[in-house]
Order: sequence, then C-alpha cells, then structure tokens
Amino acid sequence: MEKLVTSSFKLGIIAGGQLGKMLIQEASKWDVITYVMDDDDHCPARTIASHYTKGSNTDYESVYNFGKKVDLLTYEIENINIEALKKLKSEGYKILPDPDILELIQDKGKQKEFYQQKDIPTAAFSFFENHYEIEKAIESNRINFPFVQKLRKGGYDGRGVAVINDEKDLTKLLEGPSIVESKIKIEKEIAVIAARNLDGQVKCYPVVEMVFDPHANLVDKLICPSNIPQEQSEKAVKIATELINALGMQGLLAVEFFIDKNGDIIVNEVAPRTHNSGHHTIESVVTSQFEQHLRTIFNLPLGSTKLKLPAVMLNILGGEGYEGPVKYEGLTESMAIEGVKVHLYGKKVTKPFRKMGHITVLGSSMESALIKAEEVKKLIKVKS
Ligand SMILES: Nc1ncnc2c1ncn2[C@@H]1O[C@H](COP(=O)(O)OP(=O)(O)O)[C@@H](O)[C@H]1O
Ligand SMILES: [Mg+2]
Repeated sequence: MEKLVTSSFKLGIIAGGQLGKMLIQEASKWDVITYVMDDDDHCPARTIASHYTKGSNTDYESVYNFGKKVDLLTYEIENINIEALKKLKSEGYKILPDPDILELIQDKGKQKEFYQQKDIPTAAFSFFENHYEIEKAIESNRINFPFVQKLRKGGYDGRGVAVINDEKDLTKLLEGPSIVESKIKIEKEIAVIAARNLDGQVKCYPVVEMVFDPHANLVDKLICPSNIPQEQSEKAVKIATELINALGMQGLLAVEFFIDKNGDIIVNEVAPRTHNSGHHTIESVVTSQFEQHLRTIFNLPLGSTKLKLPAVMLNILGGEGYEGPVKYEGLTESMAIEGVKVHLYGKKVTKPFRKMGHITVLGSSMESALIKAEEVKKLIKVKS
C-alpha cells in the first residue's frame, strides 16, 4: 500500500460514468491521483477526477494513448477497444482486470463456452451469424419457442437481448452474430459480487435479489439480504468463487444468476467490474464494492463483506415522457425518512429510463426497509 498508493500514483479509469465516479470517491480516501477517460465532457466522474481526458473507449488511439499516461489502468465498462488494451499489455503496461479476461467476457458466446468447459450451470445455447439463420433454424425445428436471442457483443441493460415468445415476436430479432438460449422459467434473479486479489484471496458479497421492471427491462429494486433459502445462497456464492478462481482474475467479478422454477441456480452472465447490484454496499456493507475493487487491483488484503443492515436499492430512472435538462422532485421528502441515502450521478440531461442516480434505503429489518423504499418510490420524480 505504502508504495502503490501515494500522491504520485496514477490510476487510470476507462469511462467516467457513475461507476467511475463512485470508484473515484473511494480512491480519494487514499492518496491516489485519478485519471478518467470518457467521450462525454459532462460525464459523472469528470468533476471529481484529478484529470479528465476526452476520448472514446472504443477507439484504439484514445485507449492506447490514455493507457500510457497512467501507472495502472482499470475500467468501469466492458465495451473497450480490446486491441489497444492488448497492445498496452504487451508493452508492459499494467491493466486490471486482465485484458484476456475482458476479451472473453465481451463476447457472450465465449462466456457461455467458458461456463460449459468449467462445468458451470448455464442455459443451453447455440450460435447464429444473423437473424435469417435463426428463422431457418425455427423452420427446421432446431430451435423452439420461447427463446432468448442475445447479440454476442455490445449489449447492456437489456439492449442486445430479445425475448422471442412466439412467431409474432420474430420482428424483434436482432441483427448480428448472436447466441440463442432457451428461455428460462425464472423464479428469481440474483447476483453475487466476488473479489479476488493477486495472492488468490477471494471474498464474496452477500447475495442480492434483483426485482425487474418488466416494462423497461431494468432493475427496479434490489434487496440484500435476498429472500432465498440459505442452501441456494451458499450455492450461488460457491459458483461465484469457482468462476473467479477459474478465470484466475485479479479484480471484481459480478455474477448474475437465475433461479428457475425447479430451484436450480444457473449463471446468466458475468461482468469484470463494479456493478449496479453492488451499490448498496456503500452504506450497508463494511467494505464497499468500490473500495474492494481498489483493494483487489492494488493487491491489498480484501475487506470484510459483512452486511451491517438490510438494504433496498432503488435506481433513480429518467421519467417516461421527459427528455432534457433534469429536474428532481421528492428528494428532500425522501431524505427525511431515516436510513434513506441519495446518490445523484450528476447527469445533466434526463431521458426515459436513463440511470440518473440511486437510493439506498437501510432498515432495522428487511420489512421496514421495503416499506420505506415504497414511500421513496412514490416521492421521487425525474422530469425535465
Ligand atoms: N435465457 C433467458 N431466459 C429468460 N430470461 C432471460 C434469459 N436471458 C436473459 N433474460 C432476461 O433478460 C435480461 C437481460 O439479459 P442479460 O443477458 O443479463 O443482458 P444484459 O447484458 O443486457 O444485462 C435478464 O436479466 C433476464 O431478465
Ligand atoms: Mg445482465
């Protein structure tokens, strides 16, 4: 720590969204200089980063030149020009998590093959080059309704995923190389964030349960601890540990799971970074996911992942029908409720369902946290 985290140590972060901002908030507790690169001059992390570089995360030159400026490069987004990262690595620059792991995860097809190789339970799948191939496969009964099509690359927050229930949904098919998965009868969606440092120490956060808004296909609220039998949560933590060890990774791995109607736990997808499902850890866990990420990449002892209080996390999403300079309503009233913690990312412009901030609601019990969260949901409006 003494050597790594001094006022001359330069940590580079690719992309300056909310995850980058919250990572910098933690880094500033120590004596780290932060460099952030983002295309958007008004990105959330810009106002608190020590240095801002304008540049696109998908552009080779931008990523390559940015990487050369810093002592250690990390990222808060998966969609990064991988060739630039690999070139930097070959020249001896330090990038964590390792670009080879990011490359695997950037491709949902390669991810799925990895699960198969490592005997990690996941939905059955097959590969397709375009939507015509999928239509042909339906005609010849090689795939059956309902199924889920996922673009191999570039998707996030439900974009790049098409749920095809029947013939009528075929107009929703996406163009591009993709995987087709059997549609799981989902009972619950849960997530576990695992952390691993260079010494191979692993710690997992308690299981969180995601409750989705079916309309926006975005997480509506998230609860921790989850309301599942202990046996299932132990299983999820075991799989997350196996996965991070199998990847041999130094960093955080967020693992999304489905629990199906039979109670089986299967892996949906992973992300090699801090994650929306870990926001509550800032207030509710001894060590936040952001501090833990820094501990992993600096190879420090991992911090306690013990839950201090039950928590509910609500995303503050742009209201439907509003687009333009943002106005919030109900924040003051929400903050009058005990245990309500507001995070605004500082995005100037709202759009329907854009993630503008989040609120963590702590309670002495999950019941009380849920009741308070419902009150907050009624109070908060994001308009323009
Ligand atoms: N095989 C599946 N069966 C049923 N629902 C699925 C399946 N795959 C994805 N979904 C639904 O779509 C959502 C988004 O899919 P995901 O693969 O997590 O993509 P993203 O990268 O956009 O998060 C999931 O959280 C889940 O609700
Ligand atoms: Mg997902």
